[in-house]
Amino acid sequence: MIFILTGAGISRESGLETFRDAAGLWNKVRIEDVATIEAFRRNPQKVYEFYNQRRRQLLSIEPNAAHRALAELEKSGQKIFLVTQNVDNLHERSGSTVVLHMHGRLLAAACQECGLSLEWPGDLGGDDKCPGCGGTLRPDVVWFGEKPYYLDEIERAINQCRVFVSIGTSGTVYPAAGLVTRAKANGTRTVELNLEPSRNRSSFDQGFYGPATEVVPVWVESVLAQGNKC
Ligand code: APR
Repeated sequence: MIFILTGAGISRESGLETFRDAAGLWNKVRIEDVATIEAFRRNPQKVYEFYNQRRRQLLSIEPNAAHRALAELEKSGQKIFLVTQNVDNLHERSGSTVVLHMHGRLLAAACQECGLSLEWPGDLGGDDKCPGCGGTLRPDVVWFGEKPYYLDEIERAINQCRVFVSIGTSGTVYPAAGLVTRAKANGTRTVELNLEPSRNRSSFDQGFYGPATEVVPVWVESVLAQGNKC
């Protein structure tokens, strides 16, 4: 099984900003203003609007060749475990069938009171209430200081995979950034595909650098050419 971890870099060429590059989101908006529970309590309108804009933007863009290459890899019969830090749905829209969104999903809302998660493709605001308990709805994304989703499943997969591949992530945000170290400690082969070497470069056995739409299809081709499945 190949464990694949993706980050904002894979969606960059679809038109979504990354977070920490010069033109990245966190250089335009302060994390403390839009991506913490304290920000939501202090100024829910600002937080709703930030995510409403991102939701609208997502609905106007398309998956790219890197997303499609990973979907092809799955279709080939190669067993993969796809975990993304991205809240977009571009993997699903390119045909990947099982995608674990460890930082949540932009097109979902969650109830603050009962935790119910709802598909939410449109704008979200303070007047929208939970259909179950009437509680306040928030974007179903994992904010700073909150626990990511699927950590148990991720833990199991890290211990089973034969190859660990990181695509388009700066390796800054934990626990995602620590997964490569865990995989390496198990003796798993580790590969990085990114625009440039990440902070974790020394933990990767191999690195291929360039835009995701170029390096990901080439890497997928090389896996398919090997024939024998990991
Ligand atoms: N192709 C491949 N990689 C790219 C491209 C591209 N076209 N453009 C940028 N990159 C790389 C950058 O060099 C960088 O290493 O993608 C990485 C993006 O890093 P970040 O902006 O830090 O995004 P990410 O690692 O996904 O962030 C992790 O932080 O706040 C958050 O919750 C958010 O899930 C996100 C988490």
